[in-house]
Amino acid sequence: MSVVIITGSAGLIGSEAVDFFSSKFDTVVGIDNNMRAYFFGEDGSTAWNKNRLQETVPNYKHYNTDIRDYAAIEQLFKEYNSAIELIVHTAAQPSHDWAAKEPLTDFHVNATGTLNMLEATRQYCPKAVFIFTSTNKVYGDNPNFLPLVEKETRWELNETHPYFNNGIDEQMSIDHTKHSVFGASKVAADIMAQEYGRYFQMNVGVFRGGCLTGPRHSGAQLHGFLAYLMKCAITKKPYTIFGYKGKQVRDNIDGRDLVNCFWHFYQNPKQGEVYNVGGGRFSNCSMIEGIQLCEAITGNKMNYTYSESNRIGDHIWYISDMSKFKKHYPAWTWKYNLQDILTQMFEEMRKRI
Ligand SMILES: NC(=O)c1ccc[n+]([C@@H]2O[C@H](COP(=O)([O-])OP(=O)(O)OC[C@H]3O[C@@H](n4cnc5c(N)ncnc54)[C@H](O)[C@@H]3O)[C@@H](O)[C@H]2O)c1
Repeated sequence: MSVVIITGSAGLIGSEAVDFFSSKFDTVVGIDNNMRAYFFGEDGSTAWNKNRLQETVPNYKHYNTDIRDYAAIEQLFKEYNSAIELIVHTAAQPSHDWAAKEPLTDFHVNATGTLNMLEATRQYCPKAVFIFTSTNKVYGDNPNFLPLVEKETRWELNETHPYFNNGIDEQMSIDHTKHSVFGASKVAADIMAQEYGRYFQMNVGVFRGGCLTGPRHSGAQLHGFLAYLMKCAITKKPYTIFGYKGKQVRDNIDGRDLVNCFWHFYQNPKQGEVYNVGGGRFSNCSMIEGIQLCEAITGNKMNYTYSESNRIGDHIWYISDMSKFKKHYPAWTWKYNLQDILTQMFEEMRKRI
Protein backbone atom coordinates (compact mmCIF):
# COMPACT_ATOMS: atom_id res chain seq x y z
CA MET A 1 0.00 0.00 0.00
CA SER A 2 1.31 3.48 -0.84
CA VAL A 3 0.30 6.47 1.25
CA VAL A 4 0.58 10.22 0.75
CA ILE A 5 0.05 12.48 3.77
CA ILE A 6 -1.21 15.97 3.03
CA THR A 7 -1.48 18.56 5.79
CA GLY A 8 -3.80 21.49 5.29
CA SER A 9 -5.72 19.15 2.99
CA ALA A 10 -8.89 21.27 2.93
CA GLY A 11 -6.96 24.43 2.10
CA LEU A 12 -6.16 25.75 -1.34
CA ILE A 13 -2.92 23.91 -2.09
CA GLY A 14 -3.65 20.90 0.13
CA SER A 15 -6.94 20.17 -1.62
CA GLU A 16 -5.37 20.52 -5.06
CA ALA A 17 -2.72 18.06 -3.86
CA VAL A 18 -5.44 15.62 -2.71
CA ASP A 19 -7.12 15.75 -6.12
CA PHE A 20 -3.84 15.36 -7.97
CA PHE A 21 -2.25 12.60 -5.86
CA SER A 22 -5.39 10.52 -5.27
CA SER A 23 -4.79 8.75 -8.60
CA LYS A 24 -1.12 8.20 -7.85
CA PHE A 25 -1.26 6.66 -4.33
CA ASP A 26 -3.51 4.00 -2.78
CA THR A 27 -4.46 6.14 0.21
CA VAL A 28 -4.53 9.89 0.71
CA VAL A 29 -4.36 10.86 4.37
CA GLY A 30 -5.53 14.44 4.88
CA ILE A 31 -4.82 16.42 8.04
CA ASP A 32 -6.79 19.63 8.59
CA ASN A 33 -8.53 21.00 11.68
CA ASN A 34 -10.10 23.98 9.83
CA MET A 35 -8.00 26.38 11.84
CA ARG A 36 -8.41 28.75 8.88
CA ALA A 37 -11.91 29.53 10.23
CA TYR A 38 -10.32 30.50 13.56
CA PHE A 39 -7.83 32.74 11.75
CA PHE A 40 -10.19 34.46 9.32
CA GLY A 41 -13.76 33.76 10.43
CA GLU A 42 -16.45 32.07 8.36
CA ASP A 43 -15.17 33.70 5.13
CA GLY A 44 -12.03 31.62 5.48
CA SER A 45 -13.58 28.31 6.53
CA THR A 46 -12.45 25.34 4.48
CA ALA A 47 -15.19 22.97 5.79
CA TRP A 48 -16.94 23.02 2.37
CA ASN A 49 -13.76 21.79 0.71
CA LYS A 50 -13.21 19.01 3.26
CA ASN A 51 -16.81 17.83 2.63
CA ARG A 52 -16.20 17.94 -1.12
CA LEU A 53 -13.08 15.79 -0.80
CA GLN A 54 -14.84 13.27 1.43
CA GLU A 55 -17.68 12.99 -1.08
CA THR A 56 -15.65 12.88 -4.28
CA VAL A 57 -12.29 11.23 -3.51
CA PRO A 58 -12.88 7.56 -2.60
CA ASN A 59 -9.37 6.88 -1.21
CA TYR A 60 -9.34 10.07 0.92
CA LYS A 61 -9.21 9.72 4.72
CA HIS A 62 -9.64 12.89 6.75
CA TYR A 63 -8.13 13.56 10.18
CA ASN A 64 -9.08 16.65 12.18
CA THR A 65 -5.65 16.50 13.80
CA ASP A 66 -3.79 19.66 14.85
CA ILE A 67 -0.21 19.65 13.54
CA ARG A 68 0.89 21.31 16.79
CA ASP A 69 -0.01 18.09 18.64
CA TYR A 70 3.07 15.89 18.20
CA ALA A 71 1.56 12.91 20.05
CA ALA A 72 -1.41 12.84 17.65
CA ILE A 73 0.83 13.28 14.59
CA GLU A 74 3.10 10.51 15.82
CA GLN A 75 0.10 8.20 16.27
CA LEU A 76 -0.87 8.78 12.67
CA PHE A 77 2.65 8.14 11.35
CA LYS A 78 2.84 4.98 13.48
CA GLU A 79 -0.35 3.74 11.87
CA TYR A 80 0.82 4.18 8.24
CA ASN A 81 4.53 3.84 8.92
CA SER A 82 6.83 2.91 6.02
CA ALA A 83 3.89 2.86 3.58
CA ILE A 84 4.15 6.66 3.64
CA GLU A 85 5.95 7.70 0.45
CA LEU A 86 5.18 11.39 0.24
CA ILE A 87 4.35 14.17 2.70
CA VAL A 88 2.99 17.44 1.33
CA HIS A 89 3.02 19.88 4.21
CA THR A 90 0.82 22.90 3.47
CA ALA A 91 -0.98 23.48 6.82
CA ALA A 92 -0.09 26.92 8.11
CA GLN A 93 -1.15 30.23 9.52
CA PRO A 94 -0.68 32.01 6.18
CA SER A 95 -1.23 35.73 6.85
CA HIS A 96 1.32 38.28 8.03
CA ASP A 97 -1.35 40.68 9.30
CA TRP A 98 -2.96 37.96 11.42
CA ALA A 99 0.37 36.76 12.84
CA ALA A 100 0.88 40.06 14.66
CA LYS A 101 -2.32 39.43 16.64
CA GLU A 102 -1.13 36.12 18.07
CA PRO A 103 2.60 35.59 17.51
CA LEU A 104 2.65 32.52 19.76
CA THR A 105 -0.11 30.77 17.83
CA ASP A 106 1.50 31.73 14.52
CA PHE A 107 4.89 30.35 15.56
CA HIS A 108 3.47 27.15 17.02
CA VAL A 109 1.53 26.37 13.84
CA ASN A 110 4.17 27.45 11.31
CA ALA A 111 7.46 26.59 12.96
CA THR A 112 6.71 23.91 15.59
CA GLY A 113 4.04 22.30 13.39
CA THR A 114 6.59 21.95 10.56
CA LEU A 115 9.21 20.54 12.92
CA ASN A 116 6.64 18.02 14.18
CA MET A 117 5.99 16.85 10.62
CA LEU A 118 9.70 16.64 9.75
CA GLU A 119 10.56 14.72 12.90
CA ALA A 120 7.68 12.25 12.51
CA THR A 121 8.90 11.66 8.94
CA ARG A 122 12.44 11.04 10.15
CA GLN A 123 11.23 8.61 12.80
CA TYR A 124 8.76 6.57 10.74
CA CYS A 125 9.45 6.96 7.00
CA PRO A 126 12.84 8.65 6.49
CA LYS A 127 13.01 7.65 2.82
CA ALA A 128 9.77 9.44 1.99
CA VAL A 129 9.77 12.71 0.04
CA PHE A 130 8.85 15.77 2.11
CA ILE A 131 7.49 18.89 0.41
CA PHE A 132 7.35 22.10 2.43
CA THR A 133 5.37 25.10 1.18
CA SER A 134 7.43 28.08 2.27
CA THR A 135 6.85 31.65 1.14
CA ASN A 136 8.55 34.58 -0.58
CA LYS A 137 8.04 36.44 2.72
CA VAL A 138 11.25 34.71 3.91
CA TYR A 139 13.04 37.43 1.88
CA GLY A 140 11.36 39.99 4.14
CA ASP A 141 11.15 43.44 2.62
CA ASN A 142 14.46 43.04 0.73
CA PRO A 143 12.60 43.08 -2.62
CA ASN A 144 11.38 46.60 -1.76
CA PHE A 145 14.93 47.92 -2.06
CA LEU A 146 15.22 46.93 -5.71
CA PRO A 147 15.39 49.87 -8.16
CA LEU A 148 11.72 50.26 -9.10
CA VAL A 149 10.19 52.53 -11.71
CA GLU A 150 6.60 53.80 -11.57
CA LYS A 151 4.53 52.95 -14.64
CA GLU A 152 0.92 53.84 -15.39
CA THR A 153 -0.66 50.81 -13.73
CA ARG A 154 2.23 49.13 -11.93
CA TRP A 155 5.62 49.35 -10.31
CA GLU A 156 8.23 47.75 -12.53
CA LEU A 157 11.88 46.84 -12.07
CA ASN A 158 14.51 48.90 -13.83
CA GLU A 159 15.17 47.12 -17.13
CA THR A 160 18.92 46.99 -16.57
CA HIS A 161 18.58 44.97 -13.36
CA PRO A 162 19.57 41.26 -13.54
CA TYR A 163 16.16 40.29 -12.07
CA PHE A 164 14.25 42.13 -14.81
CA ASN A 165 13.88 39.26 -17.30
CA ASN A 166 12.94 36.38 -15.03
CA GLY A 167 12.29 37.79 -11.56
CA ILE A 168 13.79 37.23 -8.10
CA ASP A 169 15.92 34.13 -7.59
CA GLU A 170 16.82 32.05 -4.51
CA GLN A 171 20.06 33.97 -3.91
CA MET A 172 18.26 36.97 -2.44
CA SER A 173 19.23 37.35 1.23
CA ILE A 174 16.72 36.26 3.89
CA ASP A 175 18.72 38.12 6.55
CA HIS A 176 18.79 41.71 7.88
CA THR A 177 15.28 42.52 6.73
CA LYS A 178 11.77 43.05 8.10
CA HIS A 179 9.81 39.83 7.56
CA SER A 180 6.63 40.35 9.61
CA VAL A 181 5.97 37.87 12.42
CA PHE A 182 4.56 35.43 9.85
CA GLY A 183 7.64 35.74 7.64
CA ALA A 184 9.88 35.02 10.62
CA SER A 185 7.98 31.88 11.65
CA LYS A 186 8.15 30.66 8.05
CA VAL A 187 11.91 31.38 7.96
CA ALA A 188 12.30 29.13 11.01
CA ALA A 189 10.34 26.36 9.28
CA ASP A 190 12.10 26.89 5.93
CA ILE A 191 15.58 26.63 7.48
CA MET A 192 14.59 23.61 9.57
CA ALA A 193 13.20 21.85 6.49
CA GLN A 194 16.45 22.54 4.62
CA GLU A 195 18.36 21.19 7.60
CA TYR A 196 16.45 17.90 7.62
CA GLY A 197 17.44 17.59 3.97
CA ARG A 198 21.08 18.50 4.39
CA TYR A 199 21.89 17.20 7.88
CA PHE A 200 19.74 14.04 7.89
CA GLN A 201 20.01 13.62 4.10
CA MET A 202 16.28 13.32 3.74
CA ASN A 203 14.41 14.07 0.50
CA VAL A 204 13.15 17.52 1.36
CA GLY A 205 12.04 20.20 -1.10
CA VAL A 206 11.33 23.76 0.04
CA PHE A 207 9.02 25.72 -2.27
CA ARG A 208 8.96 29.47 -1.65
CA GLY A 209 5.67 30.61 -3.10
CA GLY A 210 4.67 33.93 -4.57
CA CYS A 211 0.87 34.29 -4.65
CA LEU A 212 -0.64 30.82 -4.79
CA THR A 213 -4.17 30.81 -6.02
CA GLY A 214 -6.85 28.96 -7.93
CA PRO A 215 -10.60 28.57 -8.37
CA ARG A 216 -11.01 26.92 -4.96
CA HIS A 217 -9.29 29.52 -2.80
CA SER A 218 -11.37 30.51 0.26
CA GLY A 219 -10.35 34.15 -0.12
CA ALA A 220 -10.53 36.36 2.98
CA GLN A 221 -9.56 40.01 3.43
CA LEU A 222 -6.33 39.08 5.20
CA HIS A 223 -5.30 36.28 2.85
CA GLY A 224 -5.90 35.16 -0.73
CA PHE A 225 -5.65 38.38 -2.73
CA LEU A 226 -7.05 37.32 -6.12
CA ALA A 227 -9.82 35.16 -4.64
CA TYR A 228 -10.94 37.92 -2.30
CA LEU A 229 -10.78 40.47 -5.12
CA MET A 230 -12.97 38.26 -7.30
CA LYS A 231 -15.37 37.63 -4.40
CA CYS A 232 -15.75 41.41 -3.93
CA ALA A 233 -16.21 41.90 -7.68
CA ILE A 234 -19.02 39.34 -7.75
CA THR A 235 -20.78 40.44 -4.53
CA LYS A 236 -19.99 44.18 -4.97
CA LYS A 237 -18.62 44.14 -1.43
CA PRO A 238 -16.26 47.10 -0.68
CA TYR A 239 -12.58 46.35 -1.31
CA THR A 240 -9.66 48.30 0.19
CA ILE A 241 -6.31 48.76 -1.52
CA PHE A 242 -3.52 49.25 1.01
CA GLY A 243 -0.79 51.66 -0.11
CA TYR A 244 1.71 51.82 -3.00
CA LYS A 245 -0.97 53.54 -5.17
CA GLY A 246 -2.45 50.11 -5.91
CA LYS A 247 0.46 49.49 -8.26
CA GLN A 248 2.09 46.72 -6.21
CA VAL A 249 2.84 43.69 -8.37
CA ARG A 250 2.39 40.03 -7.44
CA ASP A 251 2.93 36.94 -9.51
CA ASN A 252 0.20 34.33 -9.37
CA ILE A 253 0.52 30.60 -9.83
CA ASP A 254 -2.43 28.23 -10.00
CA GLY A 255 -2.39 25.53 -7.31
CA ARG A 256 -2.62 22.86 -10.00
CA ASP A 257 0.62 24.04 -11.61
CA LEU A 258 2.29 24.12 -8.19
CA VAL A 259 1.16 20.61 -7.28
CA ASN A 260 2.55 19.44 -10.60
CA CYS A 261 5.93 20.86 -9.45
CA PHE A 262 5.65 18.65 -6.35
CA TRP A 263 5.03 15.62 -8.57
CA HIS A 264 8.15 16.33 -10.63
CA PHE A 265 10.19 16.77 -7.46
CA TYR A 266 8.78 13.55 -5.97
CA GLN A 267 9.92 11.52 -8.96
CA ASN A 268 13.48 12.79 -8.75
CA PRO A 269 13.95 14.33 -5.28
CA LYS A 270 16.85 16.31 -3.89
CA GLN A 271 17.98 16.89 -0.29
CA GLY A 272 17.06 20.26 1.16
CA GLU A 273 16.79 22.10 -2.17
CA VAL A 274 15.01 25.47 -2.24
CA TYR A 275 12.92 26.73 -5.17
CA ASN A 276 11.12 29.98 -5.80
CA VAL A 277 7.71 29.20 -7.29
CA GLY A 278 5.15 31.61 -8.71
CA GLY A 279 3.59 32.84 -11.90
CA GLY A 280 6.83 34.58 -12.89
CA ARG A 281 6.73 36.79 -15.97
CA PHE A 282 4.10 34.36 -17.33
CA SER A 283 1.37 35.35 -14.86
CA ASN A 284 1.43 38.49 -12.73
CA CYS A 285 -0.52 41.70 -12.11
CA SER A 286 -0.70 44.85 -10.03
CA MET A 287 -3.74 45.51 -7.79
CA ILE A 288 -5.10 47.98 -10.33
CA GLU A 289 -4.60 45.53 -13.19
CA GLY A 290 -6.26 42.77 -11.11
CA ILE A 291 -9.27 45.03 -10.50
CA GLN A 292 -9.53 45.85 -14.20
CA LEU A 293 -9.47 42.15 -15.08
CA CYS A 294 -12.10 41.25 -12.44
CA GLU A 295 -14.35 44.03 -13.71
CA ALA A 296 -13.98 42.82 -17.30
CA ILE A 297 -14.72 39.19 -16.37
CA THR A 298 -17.68 39.84 -14.03
CA GLY A 299 -19.09 42.84 -15.88
CA ASN A 300 -19.41 44.59 -12.47
CA LYS A 301 -17.83 47.88 -11.47
CA MET A 302 -15.82 47.25 -8.30
CA ASN A 303 -16.54 49.19 -5.14
CA TYR A 304 -13.02 49.95 -3.90
CA THR A 305 -11.32 52.55 -1.74
CA TYR A 306 -7.69 53.42 -1.27
CA SER A 307 -5.91 53.55 2.10
CA GLU A 308 -2.52 55.33 2.17
CA SER A 309 -0.96 52.92 4.67
CA ASN A 310 0.55 49.81 3.15
CA ARG A 311 0.60 46.48 4.96
CA ILE A 312 3.74 45.98 7.03
CA GLY A 313 6.23 43.85 5.13
CA ASP A 314 4.15 43.95 1.94
CA HIS A 315 6.12 43.66 -1.28
CA ILE A 316 5.93 46.49 -3.84
CA TRP A 317 7.10 44.29 -6.70
CA TYR A 318 7.58 40.56 -6.53
CA ILE A 319 8.00 38.22 -9.47
CA SER A 320 9.43 34.75 -8.86
CA ASP A 321 12.27 33.46 -10.97
CA MET A 322 11.53 29.77 -11.58
CA SER A 323 14.64 29.16 -13.72
CA LYS A 324 16.27 26.92 -11.11
CA PHE A 325 13.23 24.64 -10.85
CA LYS A 326 12.86 24.53 -14.63
CA LYS A 327 16.53 23.67 -15.00
CA HIS A 328 16.22 20.76 -12.53
CA TYR A 329 12.83 19.64 -13.93
CA PRO A 330 12.75 20.70 -17.59
CA ALA A 331 9.53 18.76 -18.36
CA TRP A 332 7.50 21.09 -16.11
CA THR A 333 5.87 24.32 -17.28
CA TRP A 334 2.90 26.57 -16.40
CA LYS A 335 -0.51 25.66 -17.72
CA TYR A 336 -2.74 28.44 -16.30
CA ASN A 337 -2.15 32.15 -16.81
CA LEU A 338 -3.85 35.01 -14.97
CA GLN A 339 -6.79 35.22 -17.37
CA ASP A 340 -7.42 31.44 -17.04
CA ILE A 341 -7.17 31.61 -13.25
CA LEU A 342 -9.59 34.53 -12.85
CA THR A 343 -12.08 33.20 -15.37
CA GLN A 344 -12.20 29.79 -13.67
CA MET A 345 -12.38 31.45 -10.27
CA PHE A 346 -15.38 33.44 -11.45
CA GLU A 347 -17.17 30.29 -12.70
CA GLU A 348 -16.45 28.36 -9.49
CA MET A 349 -17.33 31.21 -7.11
CA ARG A 350 -20.58 32.04 -8.84
CA LYS A 351 -21.78 28.55 -7.93
CA ARG A 352 -20.56 28.81 -4.33
CA ILE A 353 -21.53 32.33 -3.31
N1 LIG B 1 -1.78 31.24 -0.74
C1 LIG B 1 -0.69 31.95 -0.92
O1 LIG B 1 -0.72 32.98 -1.57
C2 LIG B 1 0.63 31.48 -0.36
C3 LIG B 1 1.78 32.16 -0.75
C4 LIG B 1 3.02 31.70 -0.30
C5 LIG B 1 3.07 30.61 0.53
N2 LIG B 1 1.93 29.97 0.91
C6 LIG B 1 2.04 28.82 1.80
O2 LIG B 1 1.46 27.69 1.16
C7 LIG B 1 0.82 26.87 2.11
C8 LIG B 1 -0.59 26.62 1.70
O3 LIG B 1 -1.27 27.84 1.55
P1 LIG B 1 -2.81 27.86 1.26
O4 LIG B 1 -3.09 29.14 0.56
O5 LIG B 1 -3.24 26.56 0.68
O6 LIG B 1 -3.37 27.98 2.74
P2 LIG B 1 -4.85 27.67 3.25
O7 LIG B 1 -5.05 28.56 4.43
O8 LIG B 1 -5.83 27.69 2.14
O9 LIG B 1 -4.73 26.15 3.75
C9 LIG B 1 -4.07 25.78 4.92
C10 LIG B 1 -4.94 24.78 5.65
O10 LIG B 1 -4.23 24.40 6.83
C11 LIG B 1 -5.17 24.21 7.86
N3 LIG B 1 -4.50 24.39 9.15
C12 LIG B 1 -4.05 25.55 9.68
N4 LIG B 1 -3.51 25.34 10.87
C13 LIG B 1 -3.60 24.00 11.11
C14 LIG B 1 -3.21 23.17 12.19
N5 LIG B 1 -2.64 23.69 13.29
N6 LIG B 1 -3.42 21.83 12.09
C15 LIG B 1 -4.02 21.30 10.99
N7 LIG B 1 -4.43 22.04 9.95
C16 LIG B 1 -4.22 23.39 10.00
C17 LIG B 1 -6.23 25.28 7.62
O11 LIG B 1 -7.47 24.95 8.21
C18 LIG B 1 -6.30 25.34 6.09
O12 LIG B 1 -7.35 24.54 5.58
C19 LIG B 1 1.00 27.55 3.46
O13 LIG B 1 2.11 27.00 4.08
C20 LIG B 1 1.28 28.99 3.09
O14 LIG B 1 2.06 29.67 4.05
C21 LIG B 1 0.72 30.38 0.47
